[in-house]
Amino acid sequence: MTIQRTFSILKPDATRRNLTGEINAVIEKANLKIIAQKRLHLSRGQAEAFYGVHKERSFFGDLCDFMTSGPVVVQVLEGENVIAAYRDVMGATNPENADAGTIRKEFAESIEANSVHGSDSLENAAIEIAYFFSGIEIVG
Ligand code: CMP
Repeated sequence: MTIQRTFSILKPDATRRNLTGEINAVIEKANLKIIAQKRLHLSRGQAEAFYGVHKERSFFGDLCDFMTSGPVVVQVLEGENVIAAYRDVMGATNPENADAGTIRKEFAESIEANSVHGSDSLENAAIEIAYFFSGIEIVG
């Protein structure tokens, strides 16, 4: 049994449609624990730094526009193998390819407005969590 932590964002398309509670219910029903959470409106600089790994991609500018278009909810999730578990709960990046019952199949509007982000590795989870949260804000 490996208890891990991952970083999650409920994106502006989700907060715009008041879906924070519904998405959190899916997360909690999947046995993932929300051990830190706050609502923020990202600045352009914060979005560009967070998604820096994608800066050469054609969609980078649009992605940063979208991520600064409204509030986000940033979270730390904890659970057994939570990196992979949350990626299963989220579904495929493109909601057209996501399985039934996943957050993106149920809620996402498009590949860009896809409702949620989750870390893709333990290493990135640690970096992403540290970008948004201090130790005393995380209560496991
Ligand atoms: P996320 O997990 O937040 O990481 C990068 C994001 O880029 C991804 O989810 C998508 O929402 C967004 N994105 C926008 N366009 C594309 C694309 N063509 N391919 C992959 N990701 C895209």
